[in-house]
Amino acid sequence: MNAVNTKRRRILITATAFAAGVGTVGLCIPFVQSWQPSAKARVAGAAITVDVSKIEPGRMITVKWRGQPVWILRRTDQILRNLNQQAHLKNLRDPDSTENQQPDYVVNEYRSLRPDIFIAVGLCTHLGCVPGYLPDGGEGVSNAIYYCPCHGSKFDLAGRVFTGVPAPANLIVPPHHYIGENIIKIGEDEVLG
Ligand code: FES
Repeated sequence: MNAVNTKRRRILITATAFAAGVGTVGLCIPFVQSWQPSAKARVAGAAITVDVSKIEPGRMITVKWRGQPVWILRRTDQILRNLNQQAHLKNLRDPDSTENQQPDYVVNEYRSLRPDIFIAVGLCTHLGCVPGYLPDGGEGVSNAIYYCPCHGSKFDLAGRVFTGVPAPANLIVPPHHYIGENIIKIGEDEVLG
């Protein structure tokens, strides 16, 4: 990680920590459901486990980790196809996830371990507002996006930021791994060996 990325990551972490305290006010997201971890898991820094088996295709749930909203979206085949259209990729600031906004194991075309399941911290990388999930797209964008109501930043459903918006980087993907076919542990990399 170079010095610039280190500094940027520090800024984003600060921004997201701030936003976690104020982000619940004015939340305007059509969340399908919010699942809360146990009281024990709410202890600062504790990893949480989430069962994703009941998330319908195209729907998203929000869980809380380290006081931040974390989104879990089940993407459809159509969403996955849209993510790789050349016409779409040219509208993104960092389509290949070169910035240090995710663990190395999700630096791929979908920014995820499993193509259908996308996980991201639900805080805008501009000033930390909570973007909304717009399944039908937004102004000038025909495909589903995340849209930040504060200053208009847009992200695709891999959390990649569009060009021409204030947000400087893709949404953060937190460390996570699968401990069962549909059980994800968020907040922890897989420990091998
Ligand atoms: Fe999201 Fe400014 S905080 S665009």
